[in-house]
Parts: sequence; structure tokens; C-alpha cells
Amino acid sequence: MRRWLVSVLLLLQVVAFTSAADQQVLEDDAATANLQQAADTDVVQSEQHTWAPYQSGWELVHEAMTEFRKIKVPSSHRKTKKPTSVFGILFHYLPKLLPSLRVSAPPQEHAAPVITGPLLEGVKLLQQSAEQNNTDAIYLLAQFNFFGNYSHPRNFKTAFDHYYRLASYGNSSAQYMVGLMYATGLGDAVERDQAKALLYHTFAADAGHTRSEMTLAARHVSGVGVPKSCEMACKYYKRVADKAMAWFRSGPPGGMALTPEAHRLSDDVGGVYGEGASVVSSGINALKADPSSHAYAAIDDVIEYLDLMSQKGDFKASFNLGRLYYEGQRGLERNVDLARRYFAAVTTMYWRTKDGRPVDQPKPQLEKYASKAAGYIGRMWLRGEGVRQDFKLAKGWFERGIKHGDAQSQWGLGIMNLHGLGIPKNVSKATELFKASADQDFSLSHVALGALHLDQGTPDDLKIASSYFEAAVRWANIEAQYYLAEMMHHGVGRDKTCGMAMAYYKSVAERAEPLVSSWTEANQAYEDGDYELAFLDYLIAAEQGYEKAQNNVAFMLDPSQSRLPLPSWLHRQPAKPSLLQNSALALIYWTRSAIQSNIDSLVKMGDYYLDGIGTEPAFDKAAQCYTGASEYFQSAQALYNLGWMHENGVGLTQDFHLAKRYYDQALEANEEAYLPVTLSLLKLRARSAWNTFTHGRINSIQDEPSPRKDWSLSEWIANFLQEDIYYEEGYETFDEGMITGSDGEPLNDGLEDVDAVVESLIILGLVGAIVFLMYYRARRQQAHAQAEAEAARQGLQQQGGAGVQQQQQQPGLGQQQGGFFPPVPGAPDFRQWAPAAVGH
Ligand SMILES: *[C@@H]1O[C@H](CO)[C@@H](O)[C@H](O)[C@H]1NC(C)=O
Ligand SMILES: *[C@@H]1O[C@H](CO)[C@@H](O)[C@H](O)[C@H]1NC(C)=O
Ligand SMILES: *[C@@H]1O[C@H](CO)[C@@H](O)[C@H](O)[C@H]1NC(C)=O
Ligand SMILES: *[C@@H]1O[C@H](CO)[C@@H](O)[C@H](O)[C@H]1NC(C)=O
Repeated sequence: MRRWLVSVLLLLQVVAFTSAADQQVLEDDAATANLQQAADTDVVQSEQHTWAPYQSGWELVHEAMTEFRKIKVPSSHRKTKKPTSVFGILFHYLPKLLPSLRVSAPPQEHAAPVITGPLLEGVKLLQQSAEQNNTDAIYLLAQFNFFGNYSHPRNFKTAFDHYYRLASYGNSSAQYMVGLMYATGLGDAVERDQAKALLYHTFAADAGHTRSEMTLAARHVSGVGVPKSCEMACKYYKRVADKAMAWFRSGPPGGMALTPEAHRLSDDVGGVYGEGASVVSSGINALKADPSSHAYAAIDDVIEYLDLMSQKGDFKASFNLGRLYYEGQRGLERNVDLARRYFAAVTTMYWRTKDGRPVDQPKPQLEKYASKAAGYIGRMWLRGEGVRQDFKLAKGWFERGIKHGDAQSQWGLGIMNLHGLGIPKNVSKATELFKASADQDFSLSHVALGALHLDQGTPDDLKIASSYFEAAVRWANIEAQYYLAEMMHHGVGRDKTCGMAMAYYKSVAERAEPLVSSWTEANQAYEDGDYELAFLDYLIAAEQGYEKAQNNVAFMLDPSQSRLPLPSWLHRQPAKPSLLQNSALALIYWTRSAIQSNIDSLVKMGDYYLDGIGTEPAFDKAAQCYTGASEYFQSAQALYNLGWMHENGVGLTQDFHLAKRYYDQALEANEEAYLPVTLSLLKLRARSAWNTFTHGRINSIQDEPSPRKDWSLSEWIANFLQEDIYYEEGYETFDEGMITGSDGEPLNDGLEDVDAVVESLIILGLVGAIVFLMYYRARRQQAHAQAEAEAARQGLQQQGGAGVQQQQQQPGLGQQQGGFFPPVPGAPDFRQWAPAAVGH
């Protein structure tokens, strides 16, 4: 039995190896790409296993695993819903508005938890086996201590010791973990040491460990612990992108289905400063209500509504539901069976079941929707999604769709012709079909055409290929990104540009989430309420360079707010686990997130420097952060804070006039900040008047804006860049995340007592205002949620009506495009091309 197992495993390895050899990626010289082979290639494992079947102690591991299998794992993975009621919102914001009422209990460590039963038995066996130097046993013990599998207590020191031992045997998985622990200093297992981290990641990356490769790449992009180097970053990202592409193409015709899991936790609460106060949710940069991204809370409502309409025979609703289920998104699991049912509901309205002919008098527009639904159904048969693969049926459905000019059907039949799937191969026919479909801006057809031209290899063809890829990249097509990156990297048909090639590689690498990252586990753990595990998984992704993960890590660590959802409304919120109390680490990740041009994070950094959280207070740095956030991106929150610093002379010269200017600008940047800004202005005017009246030495508010400007904003930035913050210039078109100070974070520790009389009056006023603010905010939130749900509904309806030709595209790509290198919403870090391109 065991011999049999071993031979099967060996066989599998051989298969994996040979298929890896078959792997076709764009060659340096030839720049060829062949979809046929791409479709045929098999899964390529990112890690090469050195299989050691007869390691001593393996029986013990085997026995241990039998023990572990006895342990019941609570598999209650449930989707939780955000509170949407007024009460929920009040509870949500109450702790924030009344910070002094929160009692922080001392963190209670579970006192040396005991393990019992099968877990204890298993662990004992593993320890015995580990004594015989069995690598599997060491690895399992390390994982248990790190991740806490089977509710084994976490002990990072022990985990480190095990990983360290295994790493010295040259096991790259363990080297990666050692690198991770050195990089983060997690759980105080070791001192944070970026040089050692780099060393271990380099070992692991050289052995082909994907996550280490990404970590190194990300470090070279922003210069964390290493000199900034586009070439090095590009080298490592290319390696990962190659694997990502091989994986993507190993899927059914058309590639793997990608459902993005990466998201920011803070987006669910309207940004790190809350709804209306953060850049993501206010001002000109607010994320638009969009059924595929922001309206997560409302997706259930949308589904419910559409389902109702669908039952009433509304074919547009049925079609859109089908699409939603087919594509899937966070908060809505992909469900091809349901999707097919909804599509079928549309097609049966048009094609009669008995003879397959169209009905005589179809409702207006039914024909169009039916043909689109046919395209989807054909695609499912072609790819074997929820059904067995059947080319004949696929062809039948595509032909139905093509009769009415459906782009997806044209593409599908094109693919079948191109690869000879179930029909004789006919490339010219395929090209014809692709062209027709590309004319309707169907991105997959753009890519297919581009690849065909790339194959020809003449300069003219390369130029055409390049423009096809450009067209597809507007829809964030992953293959197009990869092709463009390859062309730029090798200088084939395009100028060699490291910065942009790197940015595209990065995007490709990061989007292969299931292959390279722990996003799914992280989100699942978070939804299950296991915040420590979620934190660890986010941390792993953050080290790999995902901006969203960096943001999540910082958000979870952020001590100034405890936004982790309450486990129950009745409980008092338990103290954060000690793992999540690490403001120094929080600052590191706010910084890294800010480097990737997240403005909320930049303002957060400022807050940390101002209040001395996780670092020594450094008012100048705080001012620099705020200035950076306000100058480039017009963050109202940052402007407000700058005004406050001027008003109180913290870190900046006390100057009421300048303060007023900043307050005014804050209001300009975000009118939602009206209330706090007006209150502050009132107070400022009073103080200024008092100052004038008593002939104080502070510059009072003058009527005319004084031409004097004693420091330039760009100077601040320039200085700031010289210093230890890795912040790059040129992140332009920043489109998600401005902070606004409707929240006006009470920075109330620096009030001077000179103005005590005036102040106490003001404070009285403020108390009243806060009560009003609470009420106002709850109302706003409610209205906002309603508006969003409404907009989402309408969006779906309209989408159905107008932009149907784009139906296949990744969700939510429609809203932003244009520009030379349009933003790639599926990969938000993508706007990084700008700095990179400028810098090199
Ligand atoms: C385990 O490895 C160490 C050093 O690598 C060696 O000294 C020891 O003898 C080994 N133990 C067994 C049981 O093989
Ligand atoms: C490292 O060792 C563990 C346990 O033996 C094994 O599962 C893993 O595949 C190894 N990693 C590599 C890259 O060989
Ligand atoms: C332990 O848990 C981690 C995180 O969920 C997971 O990645 C790992 O595979 C688990 N290990 C074992 C042996 O179950
Ligand atoms: C391929 O398709 C073209 C155009 O549709 C057609 O003219 C040609 O005869 C086909 N070739 C073969 C070998 O079937």
C-alpha cells in the first residue's frame, strides 16, 4: 500500500516536471507565444519537493496525523453581515465618539494553556519523530506553534526554533518563514532584523519559493532594507509572473477564473477614519457606488431585489443575476450552477424548447439578452463549468449567440477554431471571429488577436499586437498585462522600460491570488472571528507587497481605534490579544501602505508621529506627512490637522492666519467637513480676536490674504523624501483615498490655557455639537446606504441596457478608464507605474 502510494507520488512528480518543461512563456529572443500550448500546459507547482519517503520517524508522523484527524474542526464558516440598522451604526460609532468611556482592561494572557486528548498524543509523536530529525515532523510542529492549527496554543519562539532548524537543512519553506519572522519580529520571537530577513528570503527565493520572491521584489520596489532597484524588483516579479501565467493558462480554455479576494477591511467601515471622514468615502475621490466593489453591504439586497424581478419574468434581472453568480465577488461566492439556471431562464424565453426556434414575437430587447445568455452558457460548456465539458453543445450555443452578434460567442467559437476543440482547426476562421468580437471591445478577443500577431514576429505585427494588448489592458486583462510586461522587459516591439514592465509583472503576480497568497484564508479567518489567524495571514500577504494587506495589518494593529466588530452587542469588548498590540509594527505598515500611495495611510502616519504612537513624537514628521497628503491629494483631514498644528503651535509656528487658511482649504476639499471646520473656525476666530485684543505675539487672522509664505509645500515634501520615509514622488492620479476631517479627530491635548475663558465657552458648544454630529452621522450613513443600494440596483439595470458588450469583463472595470495607462481597478497598486516610469 505504501509502496503504491510512493510510486504514485513519484509518477506525479515526473508528470509535473515534464509539463513544467513544456511550459511556454515568451522567449527572450523569439517572443513567441502559442495559445495552443498554453492551453495544454499543466499545473506547475511553485515549489519543487524533494521527496524523502523513507525519512526516519515517518511512521510516527503518520500515526500523529491519524490522531489529528480525530479532532473535530469547527467548520462553521459563516458569512456575517454588517450592521445596517441605526442602532448598529450608533453602537459602531459610540466608542469612537466617546473615547474616554472605553475601559481598556489589562490584556489577559491565557495562562499556559494545556492541550489534551488526540492533540497531545499527536504532538508527542511528532516530537519523538522530530528528535530523529524528521523534517515533516519539525515542519508540522512549527506550523502548529505559528498558526495554531487544531487550536494548538501559539508560541512564536518555539515556532521560530523549529523553522530555524528546518531552514538550516535547506528547506525553502522554512527559510521563508524564518525570513518572515525576522522581518516582522512577530510575537517577540526574535528581534526585528531586516538584514537577516533579507538573507533568508534570498536563500528561499533562489530555491524558487514564490512568496520569498515576491517579498524580495516588493522590498526592492520601495527600498525596504535594500537599495531601491527596479531591475531587481523586475527580476523577481517576472519569476512570479511566469509562474502565475503558467497557472492561469493551466485552467480551462480562456484561463483560470479569477475572483479577487484582496480588499481593505477599512473599506467596509468607510475607510480608516470612518464613513465620510476618510478619503475613500468622501470628497471627490470617494469610491463610487458600484455593485461589484463598494456596495458589499448591499449586495444581498441587490440579489434579493433582482431575484424578485427575475421571478416576475424580468429577463434583464435574470441575466444580470446570472452574471453576478458567474463572476462571483467577495461576499458573493461564485456559483456556476445558479448562474446557468438564470441564464437558462432567459434563453428559454426566446428559444422554444420543442424545436429550438425563436419565439414569434419576442419582447423588445429579449433577443439581445438571450444571445448574451447563450454566450455564457456556451462558455460554460466549453470550459466545463458546473457541467461536463462538451464542445458540441458549446458550439451550438455559440452559434445561437453569434446570430445576434454576441461578442462572447464569437470569441468562444474563435477559441474552438484556433485550438481545434471539437472542430477542425482553422486559424483564419478564428481570426475572423476574434476580429468581429474585438470590434465590440471584448478584451479576451483583443488578447487572442494580439497573441496571434505576436507570433508572426514582424515589426508591423508587433506594433499591432502591442495595440491589441493595450486595448485589453484597459479591462485589466491579466494576460494582456503579462504580454505587455514581456514586450517591455525584453524590448520586443516596444521600448525597454523597466518601471512599467515591473508594474505590470507586479500586477500579474498579485492577481494570481490563489497561487501565491493567503488572501482566502485570511478573509475566512477574519469572517470567522479568528482575528489573530487573520492577522497572521494578512501579514504574510503584506510582506509580499500587497498594499491592501499592508493596510489591513496596520488597521488591525491601530491602537487609536478598535474597529474589530463586536462579537456580541451584549459583551463588553474584550481587550485586543497581545499579538495585535504592536503600534510600532502598525506604523511600519501604515508607512508601507503610504508608499504605495494610500493617502489615508499617509495621514495616519502623521497622527502617529504627532501623538508619538509606536515612535517618539516627531512634530516635524507629522507636519510633513500631512503636507504630503494635503498638497498632492487634497486630503481635508490632513489640511485640517495642519490648521490645528498652526493654531496651537505644535510642530509649526503658531499662526492663526495660516491656520485659518488651512481650515478653509479643508472645507474646500471636502464639504462634508463643514461642521467640525466651522466649529474650529469659530474657536480660532475667538482666539485670534483675544490675541489681537491683548496684543499677543501671534500672527492674527488678517482680512487680506497675506502674500507672505514662509515655507513652500513642495519644500516640505522634498525634505521629507530625503529622510527615512520611503515615499516616492509622482504617484499621480491618486484615486482612492482622501481623508476628510468631518471626523476632525479630536486633537485636543495641546490647548493653551491663556484662552481658558474663551475655551470653556467653546467646549460647551462643542459638546452640543457632538451630540448633533452623532445624530447627523447616523442619518447620513443610513441615507448613504440606501442611496448606494439604489444606485447599485440601477447600475445593474442600466448595465444590462447599455453597456452589454462589456458584460464579460472583470466586474467593476467600467467606471474608470482613459489616459495612456489607465488605472487597473483589479490591481489598485498598479498606478505605481508612474513613479517607476519617472524614476528610471
Ligand atoms: C540529527 O541531526 C544532528 C545534526 O544534524 C545529528 O548530530 C544527529 O545525530 C541526528 N539525529 C539522528 C537521530 O539522526
Ligand atoms: C520543507 O519541509 C516540509 C516538511 O518536510 C515539506 O512539506 C516542504 O515541502 C518542504 N519545502 C520544500 C520547498 O521542499
Ligand atoms: C495550519 O494552518 C495554516 C493557516 O491556516 C495553514 O496554512 C496550514 O496548512 C495548516 N497546517 C496544517 C498541518 O494543517
Ligand atoms: C477556414 O475558414 C475559412 C473562412 O471561414 C474558409 O474559407 C476555409 O475554407 C476554412 N478552411 C478549412 C481548411 O476548413
